[in-house]
Amino acid sequence: MRAIGHAVGTKERPNTSEEFYFWIPREERTLAVGSIVKVLGENGPVYGLVDEMMSYTDTDDFLYHQLSRGGRPDLATPSREQSVMVCRARILKQETDRPLRTGVVMYPTQRELEDLLNQEGCDIPFGVFVNTDGSVTPVKVDESYVLGPEGAHVNISGMSGLGTKTSTFLFLLSSVFAHSRSKVACVMFNIKSDDLLYIDAPSDCLAREDHELYSICGIQPRGFRARFFAPMNILSEARSLRGDVETFRWGYEEIKDYIPHLLKSGDQDQREKLDTAFYDLKKMASERGLRSFSDILEFMRNELLLEDRHPTDLVRGSYKATWLKLYNQLRGFESKYGGLITGYEDEVVELPYESLGDREVWVIDLQQLDFYPRKLVFEKVISEFEARLEERSLKVDRIILFMDELNKYAPSQHSPDVVSLKAKLIDVSARGRSIGFSLFGAEQFKSKVEQNIMGNVSTDVYGKTKESELLEAVYRKFSDEIKGRMRRFGKDEKLLDHELFEAPIFVKLPRPPCRLGSDMLRSGTRLPSGRTPRLSGGRAPSERGLPRL
Ligand SMILES: Nc1ncnc2c1ncn2[C@@H]1O[C@H](COP(=O)(O)OP(=O)(O)O)[C@@H](O)[C@H]1O
Ligand SMILES: [Mg+2]
Repeated sequence: MRAIGHAVGTKERPNTSEEFYFWIPREERTLAVGSIVKVLGENGPVYGLVDEMMSYTDTDDFLYHQLSRGGRPDLATPSREQSVMVCRARILKQETDRPLRTGVVMYPTQRELEDLLNQEGCDIPFGVFVNTDGSVTPVKVDESYVLGPEGAHVNISGMSGLGTKTSTFLFLLSSVFAHSRSKVACVMFNIKSDDLLYIDAPSDCLAREDHELYSICGIQPRGFRARFFAPMNILSEARSLRGDVETFRWGYEEIKDYIPHLLKSGDQDQREKLDTAFYDLKKMASERGLRSFSDILEFMRNELLLEDRHPTDLVRGSYKATWLKLYNQLRGFESKYGGLITGYEDEVVELPYESLGDREVWVIDLQQLDFYPRKLVFEKVISEFEARLEERSLKVDRIILFMDELNKYAPSQHSPDVVSLKAKLIDVSARGRSIGFSLFGAEQFKSKVEQNIMGNVSTDVYGKTKESELLEAVYRKFSDEIKGRMRRFGKDEKLLDHELFEAPIFVKLPRPPCRLGSDMLRSGTRLPSGRTPRLSGGRAPSERGLPRL
């Protein structure tokens, strides 16, 4: 084995049980930040990841260097400046928790690298490590930290487009599907153009290197077995850019648990009054067997019209004004939620949650929905699957939930608009690992995501990140050199930090295995022509109209 350096500590930079230093000879030209090296220490081999490199001379002043060349940068001096290149390595593996004294540094063999990056129990490749001596090894993570029970939150961050978050997720998903021992499915929401609407088709832009990376990871790149869903519009057509999606529409029974989150109120006092009024109404509806908005509104209307009351008179325990406000808001749902909500029971089309199968992906297209209907779909779909996982009434025992733009839906700062959704996501990130609900979150700014969610992350994948973001506290654990690389990352480069790794590893990732909507638009591929959307039973809700007051 070729010696590429010598490990030794100095007074100012001592070796510790966490890190060691080594100098490298002038002719050594391969080592770089991110290289993995091995030292033959007195207590056995020590493996480290280079996270800082510096080169210096024994002078304190640049003036000396300028004078020794007579002020001419191109002048050759009789003797070269004495300079030395030094690397700092973070320890990845060692026999004992003792600082390294001295030792010869070399590259680990292929076999040693595999042992290091494919620990016992780690079977799912999350990227490929290319060492600076050219050796190539898949980096594998432990399934129980990805899908539970040890951990169940993978986070992907990076700049929009250049950070390739969606592509990274699709690669990770293909790897989980290829290697997991569990019955696992995936649920995701399409919220950006037609980004995820063609993931059932194989990619047509994989290069030779991509195929190599897939082969090293033991994955066959192909489209996913996917079902596409979208809510209906008021004409009972699918609200989606993809023509052949399956549609859904909800009525009172389907969304009654979420209605308190949908009600708008001026202040806290009004909110409490509305919540109480709705709570009572829900009880009355259940006692009377009222199962649709039209029946409930009819009932409320009759109560309100019973006699000409004063606004402060009581209607079924609530002020008439509150009851009226509730009535108007419930009545407005149908138009506000643009076809997603219907007043009539016979127009409801529920999602077939129970049918979710092993290695199946559901894409729920919410791109054409506004913020509030989107939020309702997130909350309801997440809750429905969470409940079924808990009851173990599904055909799968693990579900991966892909949530893009996590910093928007679970921001670190208080945002009244997303309180209930954020609470749901915190719940999933905390309990998910025990019930098999695994959150794969993605966002541009990791520092802007709720702490309670980030605290449960067991695997982080960082793509190209902006300098201003890298100044945030969450990146403090990385050296300036590592951050520098993160800033300069190409689309195929990531930093992978897994719970079981002693230090984060730089990995290479291929392009996604399936088609991305953005790639199709770029390459000029035409969208598949839309088939006739499925119609629900009954007439469109707008034709009937809900009872007016
Ligand atoms: N490994 C890669 N090498 C080169 N290009 C890639 C790679 N991975 C993804 N891309 C391309 O980068 C573009 C943006 O990726 P995307 O995943 O949509 O980014 P994001 O979700 O962060 O906005 C896509 O066109 C995709 O094909
Ligand atoms: Mg994306």
